[in-house]
This record gives sequence, structure tokens and C-alpha cells, in this order.
Amino acid sequence: AGGSALDAVEAAVRSLEDNPNFNAGTGACLTTEGNIQLDAGIMDGSALSVGAVADVQLIKNPISLARKVLESPHALLVGQGAQQFAQEKGISLCRLEDLMTERQHNKWKAATSPTSADEEKHGTVGAVALDTFGRLAAATSTGGILNKYPGRVGDSPLIGCGFYADENAAISCTGDGEDFIRLLIAKRAADFVARGDTARDAAQAAIAVLGAKATGTGGLIVVDRLGNVGFAWNSRHMSHAYMIEGMDEQITGV
Ligand code: GLY
Repeated sequence: AGGSALDAVEAAVRSLEDNPNFNAGTGACLTTEGNIQLDAGIMDGSALSVGAVADVQLIKNPISLARKVLESPHALLVGQGAQQFAQEKGISLCRLEDLMTERQHNKWKAATSPTSADEEKHGTVGAVALDTFGRLAAATSTGGILNKYPGRVGDSPLIGCGFYADENAAISCTGDGEDFIRLLIAKRAADFVARGDTARDAAQAAIAVLGAKATGTGGLIVVDRLGNVGFAWNSRHMSHAYMIEGMDEQITGV
């Protein structure tokens, strides 16, 4: 509707962060210490501007804090410094109870080790968009993995790993972060589009790399500069939805 892709992905991810069914913002998983440490990243492909936060606590919508970082001279802020930056930007801290759901608390009580390999534990959220000016944007937000070591950071706030956008494509990923980091899955998918793949082919090629080079599971969503959408995953599920010009209603799948 004439708005910017960057605003669209931030708004979409905020709404998913507020949905307690997903492992991001409210409903995020807990660390070994029973804490909640959140990661998020956002990128404007037209300007190659990027903002990310990692290991932040008591922030209800980490994606909006990442957007503030994007608008600053920095690219990635972590921990205490990110929290201080939030307060300077007028983002007040929430309470741990605002983020913690009974479902995640019960899972934590039952957990004995990090459960990154369990496909049901993914739940990272993300959005990609192309606007009427041809600008692409991507955003990703997560609580990481259940029972993670304090300070563990996954792919979601790392540019080119859990999210990426340039003039060709925008990508957001979910899955076993360590594998997405070592394989730079988001940047790979962007490069596949740059060499001529459609969004769909690029998503499938990126998942093929994940399957060939690592044991982790996950998925990604892609939109290319022509407005083609693509998504692929090798985990058991990946909830997804999209709308393109001319559609009255979104198409959804799991
Ligand atoms: N993909 C989310 C994480 O591993 O933290």
C-alpha cells in the first residue's frame, strides 16, 4: 500500500514476537539459568543498512530495538550495552514475567540439555518484503534454543546467517543456528538469486547446502526483486504465509 518494506517486516515480526506461540519476544524459550535472552536482526536491502541485537533481556520487541540500531551508526549491539541503548531510545524494559509463558517454563523444567536438534523447538520468526519502490527488507527474531548456555548467540542476529537483504533478494531463516552460521545460509541464498535463481530455486538450493554440509535442520523464506516468493525447509514443519500483488488473502502452510 505504498509503505516501505522495512516498516512491513518490522511490523510483521513485532506481531509474531507478541504471539506467545512462537519462540521470540513473548513466548521465547529459557536459558539453562531460567532466563530469557533474545536475538533479532533487520536489514534494508536498498541501502544495505543493518541493525541487530543479541543476548538482550527484558525487551518486549527486540526487532524494534534492532531497527533503532539500524538507524544508528552501529550494526550489532549485545547484552547490557544493547539494553542501555534501548533505554536511551525510549524503549522501556519489560518484566521477565511479560516474556515468559507457562508453556516455555514447563519445557524448561523438563529439559535436561540444549534441544537444538529437536525440530519442534524451532520457532524463530521472520519476515521478508518487497515494496512498490523495489526495496527489499528482511527481519528475524528469536529466543534461541531451549536451555541454551547463557550468552549463546545463534544465527538470527548475524548478518548473512539468519537474515540478509540486498538489491536482489531478502531472506529470513529459522533452524539450528550453529549450522546456519557456519554455512552463511542467508547470504548464500541471496547469492543464488544474484546468479539467476528464482526465490524458490534459491531457497531450495540453500536447504540442499544445509542438508549436504550439516546435520542441523531448519528453513528459510525468500522474496526476490521480481516479487517471486520462495520457501524451503528440512525440519518437520515450517509455518509460513505470503501475499503477493493481486491476492485478497494470504496463502498459509506448515
Ligand atoms: N535459529 C535460531 C537460533 O539457533 O538461535
